[in-house]
Amino acid sequence: MAAISDIDKTKLPNHVAIIMDGNGRWAKQHGKERIFGHQNGVASVREVTEAAAEIGINYLTLYAFSTENWNRPKDEVDALMGLLVSTIHKEVPTLNKNQIRLNAIGNLKSLPENCYNELMDAISQTSKNTRLTLVLALSYSSKWEIIDAVKQIAEKVKKNEISINDIDEKIFESTLCTSGIPDPELLIRTSGEQRISNFLLWQIAYSELYFTEKFWPDFHKEDFFDAILDFQNRERRFGKTSEQIKVEN
Ligand code: IPE
Ligand code: IPE
Ligand code: MG
Repeated sequence: MAAISDIDKTKLPNHVAIIMDGNGRWAKQHGKERIFGHQNGVASVREVTEAAAEIGINYLTLYAFSTENWNRPKDEVDALMGLLVSTIHKEVPTLNKNQIRLNAIGNLKSLPENCYNELMDAISQTSKNTRLTLVLALSYSSKWEIIDAVKQIAEKVKKNEISINDIDEKIFESTLCTSGIPDPELLIRTSGEQRISNFLLWQIAYSELYFTEKFWPDFHKEDFFDAILDFQNRERRFGKTSEQIKVEN
């Protein structure tokens, strides 16, 4: 188990993204309903956000609800939205105390109105904080985001604001909902599943992937530090050779 002192502060990822998975299975393991798992997952969100701020990570993106999650039983979706509203509301003072700025990506307009309003309030109330940006992915799917970006670019071409030859990575990135947020260097997924589930497909082109068997409610600060430590022991080559990388460093 890693401790904060094991981490090299000079080699931190700037942005960590997490697919918080396994709440339902965790609840089942405890003989409870799935929502009990979601409720306990909130404590891990708090712990990991604190841990990220403590070591000096600048961006933390948490996959909280996917476009596909709308297809879950209505009871569960309603409970998740309720939990989201109450958690966001409760956490604003702590976010401000810890200098954490809240942000969100996804098809936010598709959220229930009270949820959307609560979220916008929290985003504006924390907008001056400068320590860590916490990005919640809500009603998010990467394919939706990419199609939406393509539509925006097509519209610009149609209006002669840009020409087809102007379209490059920079323009494309600026139309994604993550515009202005650097790509994550590290992507963590809990619960033993080894898949991406429609999360940040463009942005993780060169991210390091870290999978752990732990269910999300069992994922604590030390587990987060373990993932950071693992990341720090990897050699990121970006297509080059190991020898080239060693010379550069
Ligand atoms: C992740 O846990 C939380 C959400 C997707 C909202 P799950 O609810 O997917 O839990 P499992 O994967 O069924 O155990
Ligand atoms: C991914 O988890 C979405 C979130 C963590 C919010 P899921 O549990 O929905 O993923 P799949 O469908 O099992 O891949
Ligand atoms: Mg799941």
